[in-house]
Amino acid sequence: MIDFHNHVLPNVDDGPKTINESLDMLKTAYSQGISEVVNTIHFQHPKMHDKNVDIDFLKDKVNLLNQKLRDEKINIKIHLAAEVFYLPNLSEISSNPLLTIGNGKYMLVEFTNNIYPNDYEKIFFDLQMKDISPIIAHPERYRFIQNNVDILEDWIKKGFIIQIDAGSLLGYFDKKTKKIVELIVEKSYFHLVGSDAHNNKKRNFCLGPAYNLLKKKYGVKIIDTLKKNAKLLLIGEKLEELNIKQSDSMFSKIKSKFLNRLK
Ligand SMILES: [Fe+2]
Repeated sequence: MIDFHNHVLPNVDDGPKTINESLDMLKTAYSQGISEVVNTIHFQHPKMHDKNVDIDFLKDKVNLLNQKLRDEKINIKIHLAAEVFYLPNLSEISSNPLLTIGNGKYMLVEFTNNIYPNDYEKIFFDLQMKDISPIIAHPERYRFIQNNVDILEDWIKKGFIIQIDAGSLLGYFDKKTKKIVELIVEKSYFHLVGSDAHNNKKRNFCLGPAYNLLKKKYGVKIIDTLKKNAKLLLIGEKLEELNIKQSDSMFSKIKSKFLNRLK
């Protein structure tokens, strides 16, 4: 299992404060079956003002953490990427190797929760012209999406990739976010689930329980596609679209049995 959205490197953004906290988080990840972790440091986020995002500095941090993982016999591989804060400069900064995932094919982008991102369609189109697909992080947390989730249908048609947070599904945020993410799932308006883990407490790795919850509700096929999409993302291949309605959920099985009896 791959988790490609998290903040697990110690003391580089608003993630864990110490390497021991990072290790504690990774132990949780490992216990859930996660074998690869793409750390996505906040990039050009206002809360990052004086933090160091130099790639060599970050690589040293990854090497140190990988060594600790080997010492502790935790079999997880760490990759380095970023969660890029939306500004109109995305196309100009896209040649920085830290800012893309999957051989330069994808860029994880976040908006602010309460402010509508002006001109984003044009900026994303410019990125696509450079053969980079934007992955929009946790849309269920943005107010303009909460007001109209059908915007996501249009985003998918435009080739934008949608990533929901595992924590939203598990109710780690507010009730509204949970309700909205459930609606997004019902409508199949997403391609990926990420943990967005930040610490070893309330925002820890949680892909395992989120996948279990989805599996219970919609069947195992949907989980297989989500896991496959995370792999495709890492190697820079085209992701598959999800279709919750055609999944082998308990509900649809019961419904088809019932309909068959009526025939
Ligand atoms: Fe994040």
